[in-house]
Amino acid sequence: MKPIKLKIKTSVNTYPIYIGKNLILTLPKIFKDNSINLKKCLLVVDRKIPKKLVSQIIKSFNKRLNIFYIDANEKNKNQKTVNSMLETLLKKNFSREDYLIALGGGITGDISGFVASQFKRGLQFINIPTTLLSQVDSAIGGKTGINTKYGKNLIGSFYQPKIVISDSIFLESLPEREIVCGYGEILKHSIISNKRFFKFLDKNIESIINLQTPFIEKAIFESCKIKKDVVERDEREKNFRKILNFGHTFGHAFEASLNYSRKLNHGEAVLLGMKTALNFSFRKNFLNQKDYLSLISHLKNSKFPLNVKKYFSSKDLGKILSFMIKDKKNNSDMINLVLLKKIEKPLIDYKFKKKDLEKFLRNELTN
Ligand SMILES: NC(=O)c1ccc[n+]([C@@H]2O[C@H](COP(=O)([O-])OP(=O)(O)OC[C@H]3O[C@@H](n4cnc5c(N)ncnc54)[C@H](O)[C@@H]3O)[C@@H](O)[C@H]2O)c1
Repeated sequence: MKPIKLKIKTSVNTYPIYIGKNLILTLPKIFKDNSINLKKCLLVVDRKIPKKLVSQIIKSFNKRLNIFYIDANEKNKNQKTVNSMLETLLKKNFSREDYLIALGGGITGDISGFVASQFKRGLQFINIPTTLLSQVDSAIGGKTGINTKYGKNLIGSFYQPKIVISDSIFLESLPEREIVCGYGEILKHSIISNKRFFKFLDKNIESIINLQTPFIEKAIFESCKIKKDVVERDEREKNFRKILNFGHTFGHAFEASLNYSRKLNHGEAVLLGMKTALNFSFRKNFLNQKDYLSLISHLKNSKFPLNVKKYFSSKDLGKILSFMIKDKKNNSDMINLVLLKKIEKPLIDYKFKKKDLEKFLRNELTN
């Protein structure tokens, strides 16, 4: 399969995203075609990536490659890891023309992008996302970030890479749960922006989840295209980009209420959040019945974790609501939600009082 190339235009640069299978075997050519001269670089590697693939990548570089291994988890997505990466770059006397390459999922990409933006006010950055979620979501748009004890991703920057290389070969070693997480974002993109793509997903969900070529690559491409269109229209999340938060205000509150435990990971929380946002859109008479039923039936057929009552009871209501109010995307005491009118027609900036949400959520958690 020939690689697909997508160009992202930002206020600071235009960069390509390559999507395909076994792209890592042609890295030298990709770098050459994009005038990337890797005289010196730091490769930040997620330890869970199969050694065979890491060795294949290392082979493509000349000897001046430094490697920084990372245990990718939310606890390590912090200033301490940033400091030790900065220390390595300083010790090795990196200059702004040198490269930092992230090889990992959203955590590795977010930390590496942040370090690249801080080091000498901007080091060259390349992202090789290795999870489905990072390939369809976090590697596009230039948001970087780390966590603090006050919350997730509260420290960060907007920083664009020189190139993104999304190779579906990495997905083969991903646990099934991580595939489901990425699929949640793909589905979200179709729901908010492209009915034809939603129909494609509905028809081919099995092949996509089973990582069959060319279905998985097509799903990644279409999904990236939607995210690209959104971030190109609103690079710094002033307004339109908010549509990407569909399901996320609920989802963030769910994962925070469980203290980010492995019981419910980020992508699963977002899937639960999307189902809750669909229910709320329908109950409030925004979403028509036909689209609501076809979306719910897609979710049901997917066998994803979708039963909010499996994770929460009415005892958790106060906690969930307080996290919804604290969500950094809310600017006041009102809760701001992205809802759906019909497939590909999201509604942004709909504000609800806490008591409105309380009544709805109580119903979701008890009936
Ligand atoms: N910057 C953005 O715009 C943006 C958008 C969405 C999410 N995010 C962030 O992304 C993170 C979630 O991303 P993620 O789901 O990719 O998480 P992740 O980086 O934690 O990866 C998930 C798990 O898969 C493992 N892994 C990675 N690649 C692998 C591979 N090829 N084979 C086997 N295991 C592999 C990791 O070690 C980890 O255990 C969160 O921190 C979230 O805040 C950022």
